[in-house]
Amino acid sequence: MLKQRKDFLGLYDVPGEDIKEILTTAQSMKDIFTRSIKKVPTLRGKTVVNLFFEPSTRTKSSFDLAAKRLSADVMSISKKSSSVVKGETLLDTARTMERMGADIVVVRHSHPGAARYLANNLQAAVLNAGDGAHAHPTQGLLDIYTIWEKFGEIKGKKVLIIGDIAHSRVARSNIWGLLNLGAEVRVCGPSTLIPNRLEKTGVKIYNNIDRAIEDVDAINILRIQLERQESGLFPSLREYRFLYGINEERQNNLKEEALVMHPGPMNRGVEIESSVADGRKAVINEQVTNGVAIRMALLYLLAGKEVQHENLA
Ligand code: CP
Repeated sequence: MLKQRKDFLGLYDVPGEDIKEILTTAQSMKDIFTRSIKKVPTLRGKTVVNLFFEPSTRTKSSFDLAAKRLSADVMSISKKSSSVVKGETLLDTARTMERMGADIVVVRHSHPGAARYLANNLQAAVLNAGDGAHAHPTQGLLDIYTIWEKFGEIKGKKVLIIGDIAHSRVARSNIWGLLNLGAEVRVCGPSTLIPNRLEKTGVKIYNNIDRAIEDVDAINILRIQLERQESGLFPSLREYRFLYGINEERQNNLKEEALVMHPGPMNRGVEIESSVADGRKAVINEQVTNGVAIRMALLYLLAGKEVQHENLA
């Protein structure tokens, strides 16, 4: 089913079966990581363009690495080093890359809908690497993969997302992906940072973190976006840390096998204490590694329509 899609823009409309196909494909990709030569010829002759108009460490470098491990040709453009600073539009920049032979355009942009706009106007496949507060589907998938890899199943698992849900593309993508796979999704944060009507989707809303963490299989701790404090959406970093921060005491109240996740970048000492980020339940480093596998899987599924599966061997 996924091979029939031109683009991959979000998880809202991706059925659970298709998400499972991505997870199992990512698992095959991860097997490649243990080989002495971590590269397969699967996308030889294909061209991937990374258009990053917002800063990124993890997503940009892992798309770059994922494309290279599949033997694609890769070009990376950032806002500062492109002709966008001279007034060129996003679409003209993307069309220029397409005329140079891009098969897949990976885009990160501050405007929600930027990836959809490119998808509607390019023949190349478009992969959303984060558009404003709207969606960050590869982050959602790598988070889900990390839970799936540990437990072997997502259905029925209780996953808590903590923080600024209203402004988080990571939260949105996790919520849709997890709900489509049959997980119980909880969110917890200041009421000013929880979207209205979220409970209509089936998500359970908590304002008390100590109640929210009871009996969960995984917690995913969002980065506090410091500019929200300036706009008065939460009182102070000190109070946020006290009310919602994950410290050792809260970690110890989690189930023994529960996972502590963070999509990064982290504000250590605010939403998560260093001892927890580096602690026994944390799978934050695994999330980063899994991000490469998930992005390889999506590049393969989007660009590799005519590629034979044996090429993964
Ligand atoms: N999690 C995430 O999207 O990180 P980057 O902004 O570093 O890509």
